[in-house]
Amino acid sequence: MNEDHKPLVTRREFGRTAAAASAAALVGALSVAEWRLIERNDRLRSAMRADVTGANSLEAHAAKRGLLYGAAVDPELLDVEGVAKGHTKDAYTQLVSAQTGILVAENAMKWRALRPALDRFDFALADRMMRFAGLTGKRVRGHNLCWHEALPDWFAGAANKDNGRKLLTDHIRTVAGHFRGQLQSWDVVNEAVEPDDGRADGLRRSPWLELVGPDYIELAFRTAAETDPQAKLTNNDYGIETDKPEEAAKRAQVLALLQRLQARGVPIHAMGVQSHLLAKGQQPGAGLQSFLSEVAGMGLEVYITEMDVDTTGVAGGTRARDAAVAKVYGDYPALVLADQNVKMLLTWGLTSANSWVNSRERRMKRFPDLGWQRPLPFDDDFAPTQAFWALRAALDQVPARV
Ligand code: XIL
Repeated sequence: MNEDHKPLVTRREFGRTAAAASAAALVGALSVAEWRLIERNDRLRSAMRADVTGANSLEAHAAKRGLLYGAAVDPELLDVEGVAKGHTKDAYTQLVSAQTGILVAENAMKWRALRPALDRFDFALADRMMRFAGLTGKRVRGHNLCWHEALPDWFAGAANKDNGRKLLTDHIRTVAGHFRGQLQSWDVVNEAVEPDDGRADGLRRSPWLELVGPDYIELAFRTAAETDPQAKLTNNDYGIETDKPEEAAKRAQVLALLQRLQARGVPIHAMGVQSHLLAKGQQPGAGLQSFLSEVAGMGLEVYITEMDVDTTGVAGGTRARDAAVAKVYGDYPALVLADQNVKMLLTWGLTSANSWVNSRERRMKRFPDLGWQRPLPFDDDFAPTQAFWALRAALDQVPARV
């Protein structure tokens, strides 16, 4: 098991940690009493839980507008055998089945997951998700073929300027080849732009840039197109959503990258906007809207690929934080899906129990705001949160796709 696949801290565990830690170390965290209250409310709520499956699901409401709704999943948690036999009692599997029209592997298709060694691929986990998708009639996005993170531990010692191109193209041929014809789209390149790295072309100083040079992006797209001509080839990035000056600057550099690629005839079909949003502070607005129209004008589709809402810095208890999250789940889809060229929206997970926002690693980064968060449409008990209702209502208002 690598870092990516360590189970997240459970709420119970978190409660214990909170109880054990000194109050000073946990400024901003919920008190144990508050957690007990939430737990009681959760139980109450799930007892009177509304039916949000079938025609009442996010997927069905999105489909009515000609849109796809989906989520990132952990294939390890899917009861594929149960589904194959025609019945599963597993709540996570039921939730994923009921709510999504499209899936993406949260980690299982990344380099680190697929490549235990330089000369060995392991598709077991990813294939598990493909099997589930096949059984339940869901589409699948591939994530991702080329990224500066989630590289296996052996990578740094094995990759060099002599073999960099071959490493990248071999990987893409093998991985995109394995899933050929089965994926709606591939995030071919993830997070390629980083203005802070100070290059005139805006490119991140990633291992791929160092090993292959700036044309690694073109190489990745061309190899993916040769290998799986059916998948929509996507450039995926984050930090391009709000009107903060640094995000506006990054948007400009992403656009410039897309234009350079098109000018060179590189096969690229879509732009993924990750959409890891913060409830506090500046919200997405006019800058993103004009970015979306520019991308549409270039003939590229747009996908909202990884939406979730972090409540770092939001004052108040769970109720206030839930309201802040729900507000974003109402406003953001309304803003972006108003553009007919935005074809789908995926959240990065479905429940707070499985969200990376609540991972140990992320909570450490956000110190001292360490509270357990509810960044997704379902809570730890898989009951719909306010965000669910806000998102579903927003989907209902979206102009129907033609
Ligand atoms: C995250 C996963 O959610 C975590 O489980 C993992 O530890 C790190 O990666 N942008 C992306 C995703 O493109 O792949 C990241 O996923 C979140 C940010």
